[in-house]
Amino acid sequence: MTSKYAKTYARWKSNPEAFWAEAAREIDWFKPPQKIFDANAGVYGRWFPDATCNMCFNALDRHIDSGRGEQLALIYDSPVTNSKRTYTYNQLRDEVAAFAAVLQDFGVKKGDRIVMYMPMIPEAAIGMLACARIGAVHSVVFGGFASKELATRIDDAKPRLILAASCGIEPGRVVKYKPLLDEAISLSDFKPENIIVYQRPQETAAMTAGRDHDWQQLSDAARSVGKKAPCVEMAATDPLYILYTSGTTGIPKGVVRDTGGHMVTLKWSMKNLYGVDPGEVFFTASDVGWVVGHSYIVYGPLLHGATGILFEGKPVGTPDPGTFWRIIAEYGVVAFFTAPTAFRAIRKEDPDAAFLKKYDLSKFRTLFLAGERADPPTLQWAEQILKVPVVDHWWQTETGWCVAGNPVGLGLLPIKHGSPTVPLPGWEVQIVDEASKPLPDGTMGSIVIKLPLPPGALPTLWQNDARMRESYLEEFPGYYKTSDAGYRDADGYLYIMGRTDDIINVAGHRLSTGGMEEVLASHPDVAECAVIGAKDALKGEAPLGFLVLKAGVTRDHALIEKEVVGLVREKIGPVAAFKTAVTIDRLPKTRSGKILRGTMKKIADGDEWTMPATIDDPAIMGEIETALKGRTG
Ligand code: COA
Ligand code: AMP
Repeated sequence: MTSKYAKTYARWKSNPEAFWAEAAREIDWFKPPQKIFDANAGVYGRWFPDATCNMCFNALDRHIDSGRGEQLALIYDSPVTNSKRTYTYNQLRDEVAAFAAVLQDFGVKKGDRIVMYMPMIPEAAIGMLACARIGAVHSVVFGGFASKELATRIDDAKPRLILAASCGIEPGRVVKYKPLLDEAISLSDFKPENIIVYQRPQETAAMTAGRDHDWQQLSDAARSVGKKAPCVEMAATDPLYILYTSGTTGIPKGVVRDTGGHMVTLKWSMKNLYGVDPGEVFFTASDVGWVVGHSYIVYGPLLHGATGILFEGKPVGTPDPGTFWRIIAEYGVVAFFTAPTAFRAIRKEDPDAAFLKKYDLSKFRTLFLAGERADPPTLQWAEQILKVPVVDHWWQTETGWCVAGNPVGLGLLPIKHGSPTVPLPGWEVQIVDEASKPLPDGTMGSIVIKLPLPPGALPTLWQNDARMRESYLEEFPGYYKTSDAGYRDADGYLYIMGRTDDIINVAGHRLSTGGMEEVLASHPDVAECAVIGAKDALKGEAPLGFLVLKAGVTRDHALIEKEVVGLVREKIGPVAAFKTAVTIDRLPKTRSGKILRGTMKKIADGDEWTMPATIDDPAIMGEIETALKGRTG
């Protein structure tokens, strides 16, 4: 089939408002949009400014009204606890409506924030949908973040209530969430009045009388008396959620997602990008704490009347590298979405894909990869073993859905390894130099997106329009700065090569080296430090810290290095995967005092490097080479 991509993109470009007005007809509105875009509202304009709607209604109730009530909405598969649960649309709606009523009993109203610190259990999705049902703004915090990170988010979001579970399960250990949450609340200035805790069988959390409440008891009580909250009418521009993501400082950015625009583009993407039909099964292996989890574990499949899968486990070791294939076969998955690092992990353990031979993947049509650059060797391996198209696609927490991809539903375009293919409708992507001047094909530059951003992309940062402007809009006037660098080839394919800021990508997790440097610098023996993302065969990048100790420090360097490793785990969390710190006598700097992190990275990666002309003292680079010998993988 000839792809309809070019025509569709051209149709969008010639009249974006007509394009999104048509896509909006796929959503059930309380009040359908009369005005599609208001260029004068918000930071750069707002989509569907006069429409009203409800996300939960579109994700659940409307499918029940149209006859899908007995179809599976959500499958929970947890090899780490040896359990499975399924929910039909009827069942999920009833759970959500009852829990939404519980939230209302606590006085939660439209616009109130609810922070969620939860593992990959169905209650996480139920909590999110319950918030959406009554207009509360959820803010899910990934379970691998430590108390301090959680506290920062609590202080920014000022939640009326917190939803949590007693624990998460990581292979070989139970992660007690409640003590981490209690510690976060002791650190935060803002003190939430109530916490609802889902007690898991693996760990019973200690509860503070008056403040902490048992999820299951509340939910059972609500259901036993038939309590159900109706869907609240929301403005399309009302926030659905806040998702904090790493910025260039230790203070995360509260990315706001609006309600109406998000529904329109998620729904559009399910068919046109992922090629999934209502009634089919779409499996995304990520976490509800990340944007991928919000968009394609919870909301996307449900908006589309498809079946989603909530997987609590890892690609390997839970119990073996065939877990994903088992799930695809068992539930008849048609499309699967994960991060390249998961495939690197599987390949490492099962290079011949022996486990794959045990399963019937006949319904499986497409693999989607995102979250980090899909390195061609991994992509080729995935293609070879799965014998389906492997589609890399590029997006960010901020964008909410895919910027550049290969639109399977419009007809697959030729795949070029190393490229996430082409911009989707909604995104006019440019490669520019520092003066915002477009660069010729094949030339590396900053990747920017012409304003306005399409529906579903962030309208602003939570209560911080100024930071939104400063972080994304000021450097390249008229454009959104992605902070990714790359180039476009003569066929219009994009190549995303890396970040222009201090963000590194560790196992598909986005982390700020600046945030880690703040933690290292807080150690009493550390005078100066630098953190870089060094190449890692499994995780893509892994943080590597350099320490310069204060004059007169005589303690064992290895001990100090161990302490800072512990400190990052304690302050940021295990997700930072910060395992190596190296002590050196001094940091390489330019004559104006800038740390030469780029060259340090090249040395650590074993890449060719040249002495920076601006370096203060060239001898330092040799010292770094010596310090790194035998220290990194
Ligand atoms: N709660 C608590 N701790 C968590 C956690 C959670 N939800 N998620 C991860 N952690 C911990 C891990 O246990 C690990 O701790 P450790 O240092 O004690 O071993 C640490 O955080 C790093 O986790 P992770 O990056 O997941 O590494 P891993 O070595 O456990 O697994 C992979 C490696 C490649 C298997 C794993 O990263 C993976 O499956 N990645 C898929 C990528 C993905 O889902 N990306 C999301 C964006 S699409
Ligand atoms: P996050 O906000 O956590 O989704 O991380 C977004 C960042 O991950 C992007 O800015 C990119 O740097 C990187 N990224 C995500 N997907 C891809 C991809 N397909 N190719 C290259 N980089 C990617």
